[in-house]
Amino acid sequence: MLVTGGAGFIGVNAVRHFIARGWDVTIFDNFSRRGTEYNIEKLTEDCHGRFAVVRGDTRKDVRLLQTLAERTDVILHLAAQVAVTTSVTDPRTDFDCNALGTFNVLEAARLSAARPIVLYTSTNKVYGALEDLPVVELAQRYAFAGGRTGVSETQPLDFHSPYGCSKGAADQYVRDYARIYGLKTVVFRQSCIYGPHQMGVEDQGWVAWFLIAGLFGRPVQIYGNGKQVRDLLFVEDLVACYERAIDNIRHVAGKVFNLGGGAENTLSLLEFFTLLSQEHGLVLTSSSTSVRPGDQPIFVSDNSAAWRDLQWKPTVGVHEGVTRLIEWLRAHRNELAAFYDSQKESMLTRALKRVIRSSRA
Ligand SMILES: NC(=O)c1ccc[n+]([C@@H]2O[C@H](COP(=O)([O-])OP(=O)(O)OC[C@H]3O[C@@H](n4cnc5c(N)ncnc54)[C@H](O)[C@@H]3O)[C@@H](O)[C@H]2O)c1
Repeated sequence: MLVTGGAGFIGVNAVRHFIARGWDVTIFDNFSRRGTEYNIEKLTEDCHGRFAVVRGDTRKDVRLLQTLAERTDVILHLAAQVAVTTSVTDPRTDFDCNALGTFNVLEAARLSAARPIVLYTSTNKVYGALEDLPVVELAQRYAFAGGRTGVSETQPLDFHSPYGCSKGAADQYVRDYARIYGLKTVVFRQSCIYGPHQMGVEDQGWVAWFLIAGLFGRPVQIYGNGKQVRDLLFVEDLVACYERAIDNIRHVAGKVFNLGGGAENTLSLLEFFTLLSQEHGLVLTSSSTSVRPGDQPIFVSDNSAAWRDLQWKPTVGVHEGVTRLIEWLRAHRNELAAFYDSQKESMLTRALKRVIRSSRA
């Protein structure tokens, strides 16, 4: 198996899962995400080197991708620019990593004699801000009006933000390579994923970021009024679904699945704060600012297609999942403290640059 972006959060969880099942795994990563070197160090310690690491970039290392695609039967394509905010400030890099990078992976698979399966990690952001779905505002959260419980794959696509556009373009390419070239591809439109090895930062990975902020006494920023609702999926459940798709590829090639925690695993930010203080004694200091572009007031994945075709559903509830992530963060407190101290410096630099830009404008 070739895992692009395999040194990142979902990547190292997937790699651990498949190594434990006896697979040969090659990680392909450009190590652009902070914390990835640490992830590989831990993997080397824990998994006794039963994997290979190739430093490469999906944007430009076409030959290398081609060579690797000849030697594998599955490509799990995770490599991406992952933050909406970064996509707004640097749309070209976002496009190159997400749209062009995915195109290069698909071409490597198409031209490979091995014709590997390609699993692609898309996002619920391809459905945009869901403006056509009426929402009601309750005391602690938004809810869908009219008894709707989730969003299925039949929801019209509505790319919003450069990240939504680049991931959405890639999502459609991956789907179409199954139609036009008969490549065995599957698209997963993922909700919010959380779990161990998540080096969350303000821009991405908010569950881990809020927990880390709570543990280290850092303030957090809320975009909007905190009533926005997300369905949370524990990373182990996600990775188990990848395996189901590989095992059932004859039935699911060319398909698209929404994957999330579903209606049983939703939280608004306000509810998340309450859970943290009541169950874990973590009290967060927060300030509010305006809603981010394309932010959905509520997203809940309708997982029924994944259940119908893959007999997959989430098994780890939010209370258990958050507890397990907190335990992992506490156990790695020292390493994380070093990482977030250097992260804090770079956040300060970015904030300073913003101030300089706005004073020039
Ligand atoms: N985490 C979530 O909640 C979530 C939700 C929906 C979709 N996704 C998708 O899942 C995938 C993995 O996300 P993650 O949370 O593990 O993010 P991550 O940032 O932890 O991992 C991404 C990895 O890709 C690598 N990378 C980035 N650009 C690259 C390039 N051009 N070439 C090679 N490697 C590159 C990074 O170094 C990093 O290791 C992404 O495609 C993301 O869009 C994640």
